[in-house]
Amino acid sequence: MKLLFVFGTRPEAIKMAPLVLEFKNNSAEFETLVCVTGQHREMLDQVLQLFEIKPDFDLDIMQTNQDLYDITSRILLELRGVLNETKPDFVFVHGDTATSTAAALAAFYKQISVVHIEAGLRTYNIYSPYPEEMNRQITGRIASYHIAPTQLSKENLLKENISEDKIFITGNTVIDALQWVIKKIEKNKTTEANTIQTLNDFGYDVGRINRDRKLVLITGHRRENFGSGFISICEAIKELADKYPQVDFVYPMHLNPNVRKPINEIFELDKNNLSNKNVFFIEPLDYLPFVYLMNKSYLVLTDSGGIQEEAPGLGKPVVVMRDTTERPEAVDAGTVVLVGTDKQKIINTVSNLIESKNLYKKMAQAQNPYGDGKACERIVEIFKNN
Ligand code: UD1
Ligand code: UDP
Repeated sequence: MKLLFVFGTRPEAIKMAPLVLEFKNNSAEFETLVCVTGQHREMLDQVLQLFEIKPDFDLDIMQTNQDLYDITSRILLELRGVLNETKPDFVFVHGDTATSTAAALAAFYKQISVVHIEAGLRTYNIYSPYPEEMNRQITGRIASYHIAPTQLSKENLLKENISEDKIFITGNTVIDALQWVIKKIEKNKTTEANTIQTLNDFGYDVGRINRDRKLVLITGHRRENFGSGFISICEAIKELADKYPQVDFVYPMHLNPNVRKPINEIFELDKNNLSNKNVFFIEPLDYLPFVYLMNKSYLVLTDSGGIQEEAPGLGKPVVVMRDTTERPEAVDAGTVVLVGTDKQKIINTVSNLIESKNLYKKMAQAQNPYGDGKACERIVEIFKNN
């Protein structure tokens, strides 16, 4: 059976990498090809390097400050040739990015079956998250196989009249990736030492975290937060950093210029050396040091999708700067709280978590509604039996 995996951004790569490796381990049954679109460049390459995946095709489409028309049209056109050349039995796509939807459409035009990994997540608000919610719904219409991470995602698909025998609950492959990385750190003392050194090189000394000094880890990149949302997020971080000098605020910045501009302006990064204080804006981290830092953190402040799945497994409260989430499982479990981008709401929620031991303890219960690290094994089994 010939399989073609198509992915292009950091989170897709993190969640597809363990699956690619699992299929490659079963090479007697499967020929596994990888096509990266290069929707992300540096942030994708970081992941490929870590998991030692060498793509068979690289469309290399990224442009600075690309828009949705650029990404979608370039991928669609470039994939025509790859599909003509490879003629796969199945095209595997992941989640909700422009890459996944364009790749699903490209496969459909050649009448090739699409397998949707991380299927069935929904907010039913097409502008939140934007454009991800619609990307998921379109990919879900096209896909022949729906690999749902949880019971809830399966139920969403059933409500859309997807046939039950085409939906498989496996857990999310992100937990497989997370466990893979944690094992790698634990297995070898030098890996930990190297990671601490890497973080130092990136501009953050992990040695600062101790019993009295806490770390708040921050990420943000959602399109619907661009503009006023990001300004409000930055102002909240500024006030929190002044209010809690004993807390470090570390923000590995996404490479999107729309994310970096308000940060640069509000914190005047060109004039100030904030590393002398307690706010650290650093370059996007490789997945391994990022997980290491997440594990050392007190709480995570983010608008990311994947981090909402990873941090609860590590027992870290997650304050989500979004109005909706397609991942309500951890909200229901009590480890994730939605605050939107209102400055005062962000400040109040983070302050409560810093000051109230009881509230913190309640949220910091390790919960993992997203899987047991065996999702990839289960997915391979599904295709062995189909
Ligand atoms: C994309 C996905 C989003 C996902 C996010 C994960 C879409 C529409 N958006 O958003 O769903 O949550 O990735 O991070 O598919 N850039 C670089 N180097 C990189 C990556 C990005 O320079 O390695 C810069 C480029 O200027 C690029 C810009 O960031 O044009 C935006 O990248 P893009 O993929 O369009 O949007 P993201 O916000 O990353
Ligand atoms: N991540 C990383 N380095 C960073 C920030 C995040 O490796 O500096 C990882 C994080 O652990 C998670 C993924 O990137 O697995 C999430 O990516 P992102 O937030 O960009 O996208 P989303 O999940 O929101 O689509």
